[in-house]
Amino acid sequence: MEIKSRKHYLALVDGHIVKGFDNKEFFDKELFYLTACKESGIAVPEILKTYDMTIEMEYIKGILYTDLFDSGTEVQIQSLCDWIYSFHKRFNGPRCDMNLRNFIWNGTECVGIDFADPLDYSDIEHDIGTVLCFIMSKNEGVSDRRLELARYFFDWFLNKDYEEKLIRNGYMDEIERIKVRRKKFWNDEFTLADKVEAMWNILAIKKA
Ligand SMILES: Nc1ncnc2c1ncn2[C@@H]1O[C@H](COP(=O)(O)OP(=O)(O)OP(=O)(O)O)[C@@H](O)[C@H]1O
Ligand SMILES: [Mg+2]
Repeated sequence: MEIKSRKHYLALVDGHIVKGFDNKEFFDKELFYLTACKESGIAVPEILKTYDMTIEMEYIKGILYTDLFDSGTEVQIQSLCDWIYSFHKRFNGPRCDMNLRNFIWNGTECVGIDFADPLDYSDIEHDIGTVLCFIMSKNEGVSDRRLELARYFFDWFLNKDYEEKLIRNGYMDEIERIKVRRKKFWNDEFTLADKVEAMWNILAIKKA
């Protein structure tokens, strides 16, 4: 079975993920993070084999974090927070590529996948703002549960002394990226971008 990927050859073969790269830098980066995270107790798929710029890794069965904010539990979000926080502490910097499709709930804990993208910003708060923006980017509107869990996520990092102003910068930057990424639907997405921008105030009001 071939799995959808923007950037890689990706397939499920004999119950394992086979991920092929055409760029040595990205291959090395993925290998580095998968190995270093595993050694530090940060949940990632196990590497089974590597050859010819290809990594064969464990297939993580579960639910993508993109799919659980409307009905998820605090335990699931807490595990995502723990994962991100441990990563920031271990590498003393952001993860980047915070698409929620790069996080899987395996029934017990959050597992991070996909480390091949280049770093494109330097502060850890940016990661948090990006995730919040992804959570709030729903054309059909944001459910009460989604908002509750977004606030839980936001508060968790504010309580760890992450700077709100920098989180906001990450959030607003991701809105600009949404506009560029989905340019062909620019009119729709502009409306979405406006809505998501307005959602920031709703998220931030909680502290008043
Ligand atoms: N080890 C794995 N276990 C389970 N599913 C995986 C694994 N690796 C990849 N996938 C699935 O394939 C999708 C794409 O994988 P990956 O993130 O590595 O590639 P990508 O090119 O960045 O794709 P995307 O643009 O969707 O992020 C993931 O969102 C996930 O659904
Ligand atoms: Mg990915």
